[in-house]
Amino acid sequence: MKRMVWTSACRTGFEEIDSQHRLLFAICNELLEISNPNNQELEIKYLLRHLREYVENHFSFEENFMEEKKYPGTGEHKEKHEQIVSEINYALTGSATMNELKKKLESLLGSWVQEHILIEDKKFSEWAKFHNVAAK
Ligand SMILES: [Fe+2]
Repeated sequence: MKRMVWTSACRTGFEEIDSQHRLLFAICNELLEISNPNNQELEIKYLLRHLREYVENHFSFEENFMEEKKYPGTGEHKEKHEQIVSEINYALTGSATMNELKKKLESLLGSWVQEHILIEDKKFSEWAKFHNVAAK
């Protein structure tokens, strides 16, 4: 899988959220790098735990921010966040082999992280733009 590249399409327009997303990409890229041959399961799992910790903090920040701005999609968005965290937990606990772990890792990073930012977080930023919600 290719490195994740931050582009302007990923921008939500909220500086704090955008910088947290950039850091999220950096952690994911680190994960992609170490998931290459010869690396141990322990290292991948260590970084996955780090990703989970970072993601949980980031999600609470985003959810509080959305609530504060009275975004009507907050509840649905929270559910999507929960799904992501359970996928991380699933990769951490339910992978019998390194191959399985790597596959889960790729689907995790490749589809949802980018899709979540490009689709779900974007929905919020479009809503915020439309309703003239001030950036923070
Ligand atoms: Fe989000």
